[in-house]
Amino acid sequence: MNWINLYPSNITSSNDFIRPIEVSGLKLCILKIGNDFYAVQNKCPHAGADLSNGWCVNGQIVCPYHRHEFDIKTGRGAAGQGNYIETYPIQLREDGLYIGIPKPWWKFW
Ligand code: FES
Repeated sequence: MNWINLYPSNITSSNDFIRPIEVSGLKLCILKIGNDFYAVQNKCPHAGADLSNGWCVNGQIVCPYHRHEFDIKTGRGAAGQGNYIETYPIQLREDGLYIGIPKPWWKFW
């Protein structure tokens, strides 16, 4: 796992947000809800909308196109959707907010 510093630690004082971000070639969506942070893929698996243009209700990010909902902790789609999104670990450290990006298997060798 590669841990990458996204923001300085004072990001905790900002208002809640949903932001697109590109890290290690991945297009992700960072969410701040209260004091908690989440990271998910930014591209909706249904038809490719940017989830960062959506909104969050009861721990679910809602896609702005067709309203598919995904759990921001597990990535699981709502009942009946049959889809999911990737989620990524986030750690708030003294020197900033870090995201964990898994190492591709082909770089283990
Ligand atoms: S593109 Fe996201 S629900 Fe259709």
